Amino acid sequence: MSKRIGILTGGGDCPGLNAVIRGVVKSAIIRGWQVIGIEDGFDGLLDLNKCRPLTLESVRGILPRGGTILGTTNRGNPFDFPMEQDGKIVRVDISDRVVENIHNLGMDALIAVGGEGSLKIALELAKKGVPVVGVPKTIDNDLRETDFTFGYNTALETATDALDKLHTTAESHHRVMILEVMGRYAGWIALESGIAGGADVILIPEIPFEFDKICASVKARAVRGSRFSIIVAAEGAFPAGGDRVVAKSADDRNSIERLGGIGQYVAKQIEQCLDMDVRVTVLGHLQRGGSPTTFDRALGSRFGTKAVQMIADGEFGRMACLKGRSISSVSIEAATCELKLVDPAGEIVRTAEDLGIMLGR
Ligand code: F6P
Repeated sequence: MSKRIGILTGGGDCPGLNAVIRGVVKSAIIRGWQVIGIEDGFDGLLDLNKCRPLTLESVRGILPRGGTILGTTNRGNPFDFPMEQDGKIVRVDISDRVVENIHNLGMDALIAVGGEGSLKIALELAKKGVPVVGVPKTIDNDLRETDFTFGYNTALETATDALDKLHTTAESHHRVMILEVMGRYAGWIALESGIAGGADVILIPEIPFEFDKICASVKARAVRGSRFSIIVAAEGAFPAGGDRVVAKSADDRNSIERLGGIGQYVAKQIEQCLDMDVRVTVLGHLQRGGSPTTFDRALGSRFGTKAVQMIADGEFGRMACLKGRSISSVSIEAATCELKLVDPAGEIVRTAEDLGIMLGR
């Protein structure tokens, strides 16, 4: 039976979103279904002008392109929507309007491509009776119940490439180079790029660090004749007994604070305790851009086609996932109940420490 399905991309963008959209459109059209592309995440469901048909023509040539042809936002939550009332911003639940528009558009199902935040919204819509299927996206790889989210592999490549480049200049100038990478709560990017890029120190949110340990490790390297060191710090890393470094506090419009500055913070401490030149590079949104790697293109395509299969099979309230080498599905609830963090006693951390990398503890 022919169906009409919607697709939206929510939260921070990442490489591979277009591969998912293309996978959904191609496999839906092969089945004789119609696809509606919803612009700018869940916000698009508040404005029918932001909902348009996606055809084979719409997705031609987008596989290697970063970003999302549908646009996204990491603010729009219809259950907690900022609205101006009497000159003040108040937060209201306007999810009924979203559900109504889904019906008005004649949608048989909605595919929500997003990270933990967007998938939690999808889950709430599922509880209101919307037939929803989730696709796991985030460069942070912090979603449970899937071995990998798409976007993570490309971000890792970007971070590792930056470390390779910092290595040569660090060595030439006998400097400490600090690379600040993304990772609000989870240190996957810092940890795996640090191992792949031969870092000397890796700081992640899951392991509060001690400054004297970092300084002792940099000093020990200098004594051994390596007059440079490479440090990778996740933006969410913080000192034992201290706090995350916040670049901008939460406000009426942004419900979560913006992190940033841990690199400079660590640099200052190292300069105070060691007589060494320190430089900081903040990789920032470069990690979210660029052409997806082969891995992310393939994973995004597999997730996209799986989402369509899930709709055909009536598997709603569930998310496509990768377990080992196979794609399957899990409940969105299980995937979003808590974040997938680095285990401080786990194998990858042990690998780093066995390689002589200092994790600040
Ligand atoms: O996509 C997740 C993430 O990369 C976090 O690691 C980071 O804190 C956040 O996005 C930054 O997002 P933005 O600058 O777009 O608000």
